Amino acid sequence: MNNEKHTEHMEPKINIQIRETQPEDYNDIIQVEYDAFGGREDVVGLVKDLLADETSEPRISLMAFYQDKPIGHILFTKAYFSEGNNQILLHILAPLAVIPEFQNKGVGGLLIKEGIKRLKMIGSKLVFVLGHADYYPRHGFIPNAAPMGYPAPYPIPAQYDNCWMVQPLSENGLNVGKGKIGCAKAMDAPEHWTDDEHPA
Ligand SMILES: CC(C)(COP(=O)(O)OP(=O)(O)OC[C@H]1O[C@@H](n2cnc3c(N)ncnc32)[C@H](O)[C@@H]1OP(=O)(O)O)[C@@H](O)C(=O)NCCC(=O)NCCS
Repeated sequence: MNNEKHTEHMEPKINIQIRETQPEDYNDIIQVEYDAFGGREDVVGLVKDLLADETSEPRISLMAFYQDKPIGHILFTKAYFSEGNNQILLHILAPLAVIPEFQNKGVGGLLIKEGIKRLKMIGSKLVFVLGHADYYPRHGFIPNAAPMGYPAPYPIPAQYDNCWMVQPLSENGLNVGKGKIGCAKAMDAPEHWTDDEHPA
């Protein structure tokens, strides 16, 4: 993947640059995740594990900058249909992080948009997220993916049904197959799937 910086313009907000992360960005990624999630070690640990996990590849890892300061990060890791023979490429968005002083300025939305563009470029067909049901539908995600044919890797508590969401990425929409979703080993444990705060 290339590593060019390019500028996106959000409404009248701030001028943000987004690019793919490189190995030397590792400490900045961890710092952004730590700051955005209020020091939650479980999220930081998950990010470290995902970045070291070959089963999470192909990954899309993007960093947002404001005047060269890292202010946001988004990670998409590989997913798949865990039953049957359908081998199409799927992804899970987790986590999305914007540091507190730059929240509510459109940075999260921009990271999602840029990530989705790149997922399409690598041929991913569906992207899933476990996250805030008031937030992600603004960016194309459809709530309550399980009854649509896409159960999450682990059962999600009923009050968070809406938080497990899907977004189609190809011209075939949701007609690319159905099935239970499998995920990278690093997030393949029930504790990552028990609330709407984590891992997305
Ligand atoms: C959630 C988060 C990624 C959003 O990024 P952001 O850059 O602040 O969001 P954007 O500027 O793109 O969008 C802002 C809008 O989303 C809304 N929004 C932000 N966080 C929200 C949430 N948790 N639930 C519902 N709506 C939310 C804001 O109220 C705002 O609405 P408005 O446009 O009507 O004023 C960011 O706040 C963050 O990193 N939070 C801490 C970590 C976290 O919770 N990550 C996601 C877990 S699912």
